[in-house]
Amino acid sequence: MSLLRSTFIGLSRNARLRHFAEQSSLGRRMSSRFVAGFRIEDALVAANQLAAQGLAVTLDSLGENVTTPEQARQSAQVYHWLLDKIDPAQLNANVSLKLTQMGMDLGPDVAGGIVSGLVDHAVQTNSFVRVDMEGTEYTQATIDLVRQLHAKPDNRGHVGVVIQAYLRRSADDIARLLSDRIRIRLCKGAYREPPDLAFPEKKDVDANFVALTKTLLKSGVFHGIATHDPAMIDATKEFARTEHIDPASFEFQMLYGVRRDLQRSLVKEGYKVRIYVPFGDEWYPYFMRRLAERPANVLFLARNFFRK
Ligand code: FDA
Repeated sequence: MSLLRSTFIGLSRNARLRHFAEQSSLGRRMSSRFVAGFRIEDALVAANQLAAQGLAVTLDSLGENVTTPEQARQSAQVYHWLLDKIDPAQLNANVSLKLTQMGMDLGPDVAGGIVSGLVDHAVQTNSFVRVDMEGTEYTQATIDLVRQLHAKPDNRGHVGVVIQAYLRRSADDIARLLSDRIRIRLCKGAYREPPDLAFPEKKDVDANFVALTKTLLKSGVFHGIATHDPAMIDATKEFARTEHIDPASFEFQMLYGVRRDLQRSLVKEGYKVRIYVPFGDEWYPYFMRRLAERPANVLFLARNFFRK
């Protein structure tokens, strides 16, 4: 992992900097590059604008690592409101959440109970709950919880998980999840992990991403291939073409504000594309992970700031 990437990931966990940034008007202005706004209404406006360009969305109410059951319940309440609003708005939208935002640090039962209520709600509104993947201290517990929720017959197809190609364990995890026919979002992985757990070299992460994509595409389950990397996208298209896999049987997924040109060109080519739309006050850790992925974004933001 590069020094810059590691530094930004380290800064993403700095509580004092976080407090300062989230309160400052400069910070809030900078965040708008990757965050759709601070309120549910802002996220819905963004979702409608994206829908007009043929893009589906998954809505993420930002927040992670809550420390009380009350905070966890409040976080879940936002998602209940979202699920209520998505349905009548007839948006091609679902929701993405983090287990640590739902109380995972207080115990898997706390998070499990809360997320189970959200999945029930998604079943009633014919929507879908994607459980994002966080650092490796949560990998096993996240997979266990999603499998447990998906095992309830009504929930099938209404809850899915994320797998990170940088983890050495991911091929085994995918095999287990596919035996339950669970929908997976494949991404490279955004946290700082030790080399015994995660491939340190980008070329190995990329090779694993392509190999895992092939497994997912052949599985007959609807999955999300989440990347902005043109090489990964080309490999996905090429594999689908040579294996005669219907492009409607999977979707590409990208982050709000990242490679908007690529998002639009994929739609034009006829691929399904879903945009991950984060919103809310607690944008700092998410924002810093985006800078970590591409430190050139720091220059980009600075240039735009001084231009205004
Ligand atoms: P990579 O980082 O290798 O970059 C390849 C190219 O993509 C770059 O050269 C650049 O052109 C472009 N690019 C990438 N990031 C950019 C940025 N921030 N700004 C501008 N250009 C950029 N991670 C995780 O650990 N758990 C999760 O649950 C999720 N969920 C998730 C959902 C969705 C929809 C996406 C797209 C990504 C995630 N991620 C995630 C993040 C993921 O793990 C990863 O960190 C980023 O997607 C960056 O990796 P890429 O595959 O884009 O390629």
